Amino acid sequence: VAQILRPTKERPVPTRGETRALFDGAARGYDTLAQLLSGGQYLKWRDRLVTAATRHGVGNGSRVLDIATGTGLIATPLATEGAEVTGLDLSRGMLKAARGRAPHRTRLVQGDARRLPFPDHAFDATTMSYLLRYVEDPAAVLLELVRTVRPGGFFGFIEFHVPQDAFWRSLWRLHTRLVLPTGGLLGGPAWWRVGRFLGPSIETFWDRHDLAAVRTMMSDAGLGEIHIETPSLGGGLVALGTRTGTRAARRDGGPGGRSSIRRTR
Ligand SMILES: C[S@@+](CC[C@H](N)C(=O)[O-])C[C@H]1O[C@@H](n2cnc3c(N)ncnc32)[C@H](O)[C@@H]1O
Repeated sequence: VAQILRPTKERPVPTRGETRALFDGAARGYDTLAQLLSGGQYLKWRDRLVTAATRHGVGNGSRVLDIATGTGLIATPLATEGAEVTGLDLSRGMLKAARGRAPHRTRLVQGDARRLPFPDHAFDATTMSYLLRYVEDPAAVLLELVRTVRPGGFFGFIEFHVPQDAFWRSLWRLHTRLVLPTGGLLGGPAWWRVGRFLGPSIETFWDRHDLAAVRTMMSDAGLGEIHIETPSLGGGLVALGTRTGTRAARRDGGPGGRSSIRRTR
């Protein structure tokens, strides 16, 4: 038990190929897996994000981009609200599952969030979920995502977080190190891989970046009215913002470039 409760060593960010393989394999039965991985909290966080988007005015005829759309768990309720949703994901397997769920008019695109095939300000809202742990430079990816939102538009995402309270953190470690891989075993090899991957991946991300850093990344990307909350005893994260009127400049060399973030008017 002591071994399980000890923090894990840093886990490298998976390559694009590894990410694809991970999710192509897990697409079947993913929705059950998502609920299991989040201790039954996933839909609560998802609903919080969708409600925030609709309160912001997302609805009939709004143009919405949902990044890392997966099986369409976020794209679908937004489309049901009447939005014209485009869902983008790396994994063909996940997109195939999304096709089976999302309303017919939902556009599904295979692509990489690090370099989006959409012009600046093309959408009234952009949403995203569980993506930042899969990229080397989350600040650059946020910049790339936020540039697609029109000034005044909505941007929001959800992610896993690590409880800060020592007691809940210990239980969280037991959940991620024991329950998830064991639950994964029940669902077969793909679930096992995701179950084993998740806890260390979440912990590595939050060892590298705290909430203040995420807030700074959001504001550097061109967001104002930023609101971040960590529901479910700190195990989840819902981050919301509004695209400011200023235009976020790309880093030199585009997303993933090394120079600091600049903003121009
Ligand atoms: C944990 S799943 C989340 C899926 C869905 N949004 C949900 O809420 O259940 C993470 C998704 O991110 C996608 N993904 C990871 N890296 C990506 C990238 N660079 N570009 C686009 N999608 C990516 C994966 O293929 C996977 O479908």
